Amino acid sequence: MTIHIGAEKGDIAPTVLLPGDPYRAKWAAENFLTAPRLVNEVRGMLGYTGTWNGHPVTIQGSGMGMPSLSIYANELIRDYDAQTLIRIGSCGGMQENVGIRDVLIAMTATTFGSPSKGIFRELNFAPCADWELLEAAVAHARKKQATFHVGGIYSSDVFYDERPDLNEQMIRHGILGVEMEAAELYTLAARHGRRALAVLTVSDHLITGEALPAEDREQSFGDMVEIALSAAFA
Ligand code: HPA
Repeated sequence: MTIHIGAEKGDIAPTVLLPGDPYRAKWAAENFLTAPRLVNEVRGMLGYTGTWNGHPVTIQGSGMGMPSLSIYANELIRDYDAQTLIRIGSCGGMQENVGIRDVLIAMTATTFGSPSKGIFRELNFAPCADWELLEAAVAHARKKQATFHVGGIYSSDVFYDERPDLNEQMIRHGILGVEMEAAELYTLAARHGRRALAVLTVSDHLITGEALPAEDREQSFGDMVEIALSAAFA
């Protein structure tokens, strides 16, 4: 047990999927894992462990934003020895050719200031995905004929953004989408020698203002979960 995760040591698998929403952890565990069991409910941040194609997998909510994800990722890595950590979540589209429901596979994650900013000081560290996971995710997305994009994303600190000029710069520099967690996950994985990736579904669009209807969410999010699981065990 850790401060924020009530699971026993052996209850957490070496491969962990991290949705922001604890109820999405429940949904993904119930729909994709065999024999999922609840292993954490501290603060309602649900975590489940089961198997996928015979491989043990934990799906643990991370909460919203990098400070929250940082707590769960740190404890999963340091106390439970998680080796492969894949964020699954939603994001806002930032390019004209990125559509609602498309899957983004994040090669890099730009940030204004993750919780790790304190370590890097004047350095601008470039958080990037694990190459093996990225390559395997792309291969599976291709095989599934999913509509997907691979490239840089923006891990913002704010959802209600008072600095639209920053988004404009991101769009100008080809960033595919915005979310709030991946940069810190990639940085922690780099620091501790673990594998990390973020596979995201575009749920809304910053340019067109479109949003994914609630009834379409499950099908769209399902593609992302499948790509993440296939990448982990490729
Ligand atoms: N901004 C930040 N995070 C998000 C968004 C957004 O527009 N959509 C989904 N996650």
